[in-house]
Amino acid sequence: MKADLLLGLQWGDEGKGKIVDVLTGNYDIIARFQGGPNAGHTLEFDGIKHVLHTIPSGIFHKKALNIVGNGVVIDPVIFRRELENLSRFPIDIQKSLLISRKAHLILPTHRLLDAASEASKGKAKIGSTLKGIGPTYMDKTGRNGLRVGDLELADWKDKYRTLADKHEAMIHFYNVDIQYNLQELEAEFFSAVENLKSLQFIDSEEYVHQALKSGKKILAEGAQGSLLDIDFGTYPYVTSSNTTAAGACTGLGIAPGNIGEVYGIFKAYTTRVGSGPFPTELFDEDGKTMGRVGNEFGATTGRPRRCGWLDLVALKYAVQINGVSQLMMMKADVLSGFETIKVCTAYHYKGEKITHLPYTIEAEHLTPVYTELPGWKEDLTRMTEAAQLPENLKKYIDYLEEALETPIKIVSVGPDRTQTIHRLKS
Ligand code: GDP
Ligand code: IMO
Ligand code: MG
Repeated sequence: MKADLLLGLQWGDEGKGKIVDVLTGNYDIIARFQGGPNAGHTLEFDGIKHVLHTIPSGIFHKKALNIVGNGVVIDPVIFRRELENLSRFPIDIQKSLLISRKAHLILPTHRLLDAASEASKGKAKIGSTLKGIGPTYMDKTGRNGLRVGDLELADWKDKYRTLADKHEAMIHFYNVDIQYNLQELEAEFFSAVENLKSLQFIDSEEYVHQALKSGKKILAEGAQGSLLDIDFGTYPYVTSSNTTAAGACTGLGIAPGNIGEVYGIFKAYTTRVGSGPFPTELFDEDGKTMGRVGNEFGATTGRPRRCGWLDLVALKYAVQINGVSQLMMMKADVLSGFETIKVCTAYHYKGEKITHLPYTIEAEHLTPVYTELPGWKEDLTRMTEAAQLPENLKKYIDYLEEALETPIKIVSVGPDRTQTIHRLKS
């Protein structure tokens, strides 16, 4: 059996949480492979909206097991809060949530370091979610990190102390004004760690291997999006993990040959939260309309998301890097009412027209070239069949499928689980 992957193709918030929830019925295991509580994955059903940060989006399905993989970074404090939010639902967490011993822990001082680093950058700040993601992955690759499995060892608090003391010295080095009470933060952390220890820790790579061998179906859930990838994103305005398909191999221990379908999710337009270049960003009424109708506010930080037209150059790049086999187009309903739909199909770059993503995509180097398609007026939110979709939306879909040379399997027409149109049956 091969594992399928589901990942975001833009700057995150494409609707991964919703689609993982929709697809979970077809899978035995849902496994997160990277990122941490910088993610905010929204699910909606039965009139309730849920936001998950670290816990995989299959958690509401009785049959599915959920794994937090080795590539994920866990903040025990946020994790406990997530579990508390789930406690009013009939979920057997001890049974249905498994944590990799090799996942790294976010310490309170990692969060402080994130804040100090951002404060020291001034205008050049990344616009981080300030959840400690960068500093934690730095300790991972620097070979200093504290892992979930360490919590089962007698000396973990000594390791913690050594690392936290070093972090404190580093915070002073930044020489910025950060107020904190470490004793309070540590008391909260240690109590949250005890809570984390009540869950099942596993050697997840072995678990995943045996599960595939015995025919279990696994869906790997990505966080963030390809343009936030540490290697292939809009560096340095990226996150600190590999958000692309290869991240699922390293973040779960799945061999490349054992990857099946790669589902790529994109919005029918583009959004970005935080700093960094965004060629198709709109500063006019159209952009405001997308933000308002699409309710574009970050699920983790509440910050307004920047909005713009679909960037087909960037999307092609993401399809290529990930080897996407099937696409899912989200938030098609948000584009209802636009007279014309614009799609960026090339860039003017240093006096040339190019159709690939160059090294720098800052506005001073590059302007988008748009193709216009006719819009549609119909409300899509009650539609359930592909045949009901307006002709001009069908044309938009056909156009994108042809340009991306990849089929669009799902068209999403609202935030609810049921507002999902399956175009292809497989
Ligand atoms: P994720 O991080 O990729 O899981 O995405 P987020 O949850 O951060 O952001 C997606 C937002 O769009 C959430 O508020 C979803 O409830 C909402 N959403 C998802 N699909 C659709 C859709 O097809 N239409 C509309 N209007 N909203 C959607
Ligand atoms: P999901 O999984 C959108 C952005 C931040 C910032 C940059 C670095 O919900 O799609 P970090 O906290 O990682 O240091 O922030 O990445 N970012 C996201 N944007 N969706 C996310 O996750 C994001 N996770 C991080 O806004 O620009
Ligand atoms: Mg999100």
